Amino acid sequence: MLRIGSLTFSSPCILAPMAGITDLPFRMINRAFGCEFAFAEMISARALVYQSKNTERMLTTNPHDQPLGVQLLGNDPGVILRALEIIRKHPLDLIDVNAACPVNKVTKKGEGAAMLREPRKLGQVLRALVENSQVPVTVKIRSGWDEDSVNAGEVALHAQDAGVSALFIHGRTRAQGYRGRVDYRVIREVKGLLRIPVIASGDTFSAQLIKKMFDETGCDGVTIARGALGNPWIFKEAAEYLASGILLPKPGISEVMEIMMKHLNLCCDYHGEKAGAVLFRKFFGWYVKGIPDVKTLRDRAFHAETKKKMLDTIEELRLRNGRGAAS
Ligand SMILES: Cc1cc2nc3c(=O)[nH]c(=O)nc-3n(C[C@H](O)[C@H](O)[C@H](O)COP(=O)(O)O)c2cc1C
Repeated sequence: MLRIGSLTFSSPCILAPMAGITDLPFRMINRAFGCEFAFAEMISARALVYQSKNTERMLTTNPHDQPLGVQLLGNDPGVILRALEIIRKHPLDLIDVNAACPVNKVTKKGEGAAMLREPRKLGQVLRALVENSQVPVTVKIRSGWDEDSVNAGEVALHAQDAGVSALFIHGRTRAQGYRGRVDYRVIREVKGLLRIPVIASGDTFSAQLIKKMFDETGCDGVTIARGALGNPWIFKEAAEYLASGILLPKPGISEVMEIMMKHLNLCCDYHGEKAGAVLFRKFFGWYVKGIPDVKTLRDRAFHAETKKKMLDTIEELRLRNGRGAAS
């Protein structure tokens, strides 16, 4: 069980926020496999306030897509509070502030991971949100800016003082991006410093690695990010492994195909047939990872411009594998 402020979750495994990935269709697919709490895509507070329509669409949800968190990018309390006014109109259960995004375009503006260098300012942004939000406020940090300035403990204490309900920490520095191994030690140190729940991120690629994260850090929960790409089964596998130590067998190809079709249909319903098919290309690549001899089909999928062409490509994978019987 995981508690964040007024929220209680029976599963400690959360779908991480991933820009360009965690849209409504992706969340629904993961929820079907036991993902209880999910994040929508990161939203720039400034974009929400100034170009609200397209950005606000990212807050689209439905009654089966609950509980849901939203992550805000921003470093100006005034803008963040204006964004809060817009967010309030949507059924969201938690607001997280991103102090972790490593992308140059973001950090150049002093947002995302750049806020790790200004823990006091981050504290002010968080306090303003905590004082005005009706739902729990959290923050996501990294271990530090670079290996010479690992300051997660200091940043975390400022965040806790500001009143956040939990802290998410990705155990890599901004300079590392997504490379190298996650640093369990820094997460364990932060967990030891705080009273509030600490939710760990980094290399949660399998049930065993998720268990390892809990064992090595003492964290209260984990987020699953790259481990869920083309692999919603990870939520079921992690739940089983954490509860009983049993490793579930991997899904057969026919089951993978079935979920690909469902995901593609959801993408096309939500984004429109053409945009949905194009968006699904990258998911095709992730779903078929590990299946032998798929290069030609992957190339075909990466050029599919319509839902029909994408469906044909998935169907061919099924036929090639013995009418879906093979696994
Ligand atoms: C494509 C992609 C987009 C991401 N977007 C965000 C984001 O918008 N906000 C965020 O806090 N983290 C984002 N992340 C980071 C993940 O949430 C996670 O912290 C990171 O990938 C480490 O976990 P992993 O090693 O298990 O993938 C993103 C990661 C990926 C791969």
